[in-house]
Amino acid sequence: MTILHTPRLRLEPLDDIHFDGLYAINSIPEVMRYLTGKPDTPEQTWAMIERTKANWKDPGYSWWAFIDRASGELIGTGCIQNIERNIVNPLEIGWRLHPDQWGKGYASEAAREMTRFAFETLNAQLLCAVCHQENTDSAAVMKRLGMSFISIEHWYELDVAVYGMSRAKWLMDKR
Ligand SMILES: CC(C)(COP(=O)(O)OP(=O)(O)OC[C@H]1O[C@@H](n2cnc3c(N)ncnc32)[C@H](O)[C@@H]1OP(=O)(O)O)[C@@H](O)C(=O)NCCC(=O)NCCS
Repeated sequence: MTILHTPRLRLEPLDDIHFDGLYAINSIPEVMRYLTGKPDTPEQTWAMIERTKANWKDPGYSWWAFIDRASGELIGTGCIQNIERNIVNPLEIGWRLHPDQWGKGYASEAAREMTRFAFETLNAQLLCAVCHQENTDSAAVMKRLGMSFISIEHWYELDVAVYGMSRAKWLMDKR
C-alpha cells in the first residue's frame, strides 16, 4: 500500500479509520449528484472501504483518503483503478472533495500525484478518466491534468465522457 505526498496533502490508502470523514463527504447530495445520484448510506460507505481494502491487496491500487497535512482533516478521496473495477478495462483516475474544499486546487494537486503513481509505479501506458457529461468541474480537472476528450462511452450504466492521456504525453508535459 502506497502513501503519496503532495505539497498540501497526504494520500493514505483508504481504511476503517477514514469512515467518518469519508461518510461526511459521501452523504452530501451535491457530491453524489453525478456519481450514483443519491447520497450514500453508512452501509454503502463501509462497502466502499471494504472493497478498497481488498483492492489494495489485489491488484495493489485503489482509493486514497486525501488528508490536509496542516489540519489532519480528511478533505477528499480519489483513486487509480480499472474502469468498473474490472482488471480487463483501462486504468482510470477519479476524485471527489468535500464541497467546503472546492475551488482550492486540491483535486488537481492530488490528481497530479496519483497520475505519477499510475505511470511510474504501475507503468501504465494509458490513463483515462470518465465523468457524467454535465460534470464540467470534473472535466476541468481532467483537462488541467493534461487529458484530452476521447469519446462518449457506456460505462457505469451511463453514457459518460471519457478523457485520457498517454504515457508519452505525460512524459512530454513533465519536461
Ligand atoms: C470534481 C471536483 C473534485 C472538482 O473540484 P474543484 O475544486 O473544482 O477542483 P480543484 O480542487 O482541482 O480546484 C480547481 C479550482 O480551484 C482554483 N484554485 C484555487 N487555488 C488553487 C491552487 N492553489 N491550485 C490550483 N487551483 C486552485 C482553480 O482556479 C479552480 O477554480 P475554477 O474551476 O473556478 O477555475 C468537485 O467538484 C467534486 O468533488 N465534485 C463532486 C464529486 C464528483 O463529481 N467527482 C467526479 C466524478 S467523475
